[in-house]
Amino acid sequence: MSAATTPVFLVGFMGTGKSTTGQILARLMGWDFIDLDDQIVAAEGRSIPRIFAEAGEVYFRRREADLLASLRGRSCLVVACGGGTYAREAGRRQIDRIGRAVWLQLPLETALDRCRDGTVRPLLRDRAEAEALYRLRLPSYRAAPLHVDLEGLSPEAAAERIAALLQ
Ligand code: S3P
Repeated sequence: MSAATTPVFLVGFMGTGKSTTGQILARLMGWDFIDLDDQIVAAEGRSIPRIFAEAGEVYFRRREADLLASLRGRSCLVVACGGGTYAREAGRRQIDRIGRAVWLQLPLETALDRCRDGTVRPLLRDRAEAEALYRLRLPSYRAAPLHVDLEGLSPEAAAERIAALLQ
C-alpha cells in the first residue's frame, strides 16, 4: 500500500480531541473516518463505562485489539483511537503495522479541562490518578512517528496541520 493512502491513527491522552479533529481531518482529505470507541459501543450495545463495569478493562482492550486487526488492508482511513490504544505495547505494534500514528499533544491541564464535556471516562477518577496515567503513557505517545502540538489550536487548525504533516 502506498504511504500516501495508509491509514492514519490519531493517538493521545483523553481530552486531546482525537474524535473531533479526526472527523475534520477525514473530511479535509476525503477519507473515511472511524472512531474506535464509537464502534465498540455500537457493537456492544452498551456504553464504555458499562463495558468497564460489567466486563472489565481487559475485555475492553480485547475489543479494541479485534477492531484494530479488522482494519488491516484498509486505505484512505482516519481512525480516532481511545486514550489507551497506543499506550499499550500490543496496540502500538498493531497500529504501527497497519498505518501511521499521529500523537495529538497537549499539556495535561488543557486535556483535563477539555474532559469536562460530560463524557464519563472510567479511567479518569481523580486528578492524582490522571496525572499518574499521563506520566506513564507519555513515553508510548512519544514513540508515535508523527507529533502535533495542539496548544492554542482549534480542531480545524489542528486538522489542517496534520494534513500538511501527512503530505
Ligand atoms: C480510555 C480513553 C477513552 C476510552 C476509554 C479508555 C483510556 O477514550 O477509550 O474510556 O484508556 O485513556 P478517549 O481518549 O476518547 O476519552
